[in-house]
Amino acid sequence: MTAPKALVLAGGEGRRLRPLTYSGPKQLVPVANRPILFFVLDSIVEAGIEDIGVVVSPETGPFVKQAVGDGSAFGARVTYIVQDRPGGLAHAVRCARSFLRDDAFLMVLGDNLIGSPLSPFVRAFQEDPSTEARLLLHEVPDPRRFGVAALDTDGTVIRLVEKPADPPSNLALVGVYLFRASIHAAIDELTPSARGELEITDAANALLSAGKLVRFDRLEGFWLDTGKKDDLLLANETVLAARLEPARLGHVCPQSLIEGTVRVETGATVVRSRVIGPVILGPGAHLEDAEVGPFVSVGAGARVVGTRVARSVLLEGSVVAGAGELERCLLGKRAVVRAAPDASASLVLGDDCEVLLPRG
Ligand code: DAU
Repeated sequence: MTAPKALVLAGGEGRRLRPLTYSGPKQLVPVANRPILFFVLDSIVEAGIEDIGVVVSPETGPFVKQAVGDGSAFGARVTYIVQDRPGGLAHAVRCARSFLRDDAFLMVLGDNLIGSPLSPFVRAFQEDPSTEARLLLHEVPDPRRFGVAALDTDGTVIRLVEKPADPPSNLALVGVYLFRASIHAAIDELTPSARGELEITDAANALLSAGKLVRFDRLEGFWLDTGKKDDLLLANETVLAARLEPARLGHVCPQSLIEGTVRVETGATVVRSRVIGPVILGPGAHLEDAEVGPFVSVGAGARVVGTRVARSVLLEGSVVAGAGELERCLLGKRAVVRAAPDASASLVLGDDCEVLLPRG
């Protein structure tokens, strides 16, 4: 049986993760010091698919190409497809038509983290040629932010609704789909939705209206849509807790204390500090008189001095010094947080930044 192709969507604007997305695509924002997109590529290759198309925007393309290359580092062959504007998920598929040809394909959103292997989902689709599409659904407390499936009493998908005000169920579409060539004709008939996009949910609805079979699997493991700050911090915590492999490749001075699962990469230094895992310290990161953890990812070359940091993501080259206690922070590359010379805070903030000061 030939494996399907895969299509990864790494275009779009990343508006909800500004300002980080001014200097790079949201799919490359790291959790546990690794771009989210890399986890997505790993899960596709683990499912036995090597022929992967990656949809990029004119803005994200150069960054994604530099990070992913030809895909060989992931055991894949990557073809890049430029989507000229963020016209929606179905528009992205249309742009990829010459890559996909008439082959079946797995489509995965490049900013979603999935905690279960995709191979059973892919295998079930391959073994059932009567299904035109297969969806992955996950029960969520508030489905209004997502595409939602309406099921009939015997559990068959009858309709999909994008971001419904009044959700027909609490089963959200997790952004992992399997399609056959029939989806292209459905996409050709679409008109833009209220948000001006060609919606893949509308294309799947067209299959249902034409009497085609659309099946689904429930995702049992975690699902994290990393498009916003709090979701990204939660993704960081989940990945650190589930996947971090401890290592001591850098230097930890004898006056430091390491507790729990901690990964100290090559060239990282820990001086008179307490590190409470899970924590990852990237290459060349430096801690001094600090308390770091739990759930902190410190990027390459980032520094934490005289500060307590918990549940945070510090990107490469960022600096935190004499800053008291920080929790739930997301610092971009080279961002600096340090003690002010006098009692009032003094800030230089780029566009769309957010600072939450403690009540005082
Ligand atoms: O996260 C799951 C949800 O993803 C589903 O429940 C929804 O049914 C689905 O429509 C989608 O909704 P979002 O509004 O969250 O999609 P977003 O605009 O965040 O785009 C998802 C990914 O696709 C993201 O990595 C960017 C990429 N993308 C998006 C658009 C609109 C593209 O590559 N091209 C595009 O035109």
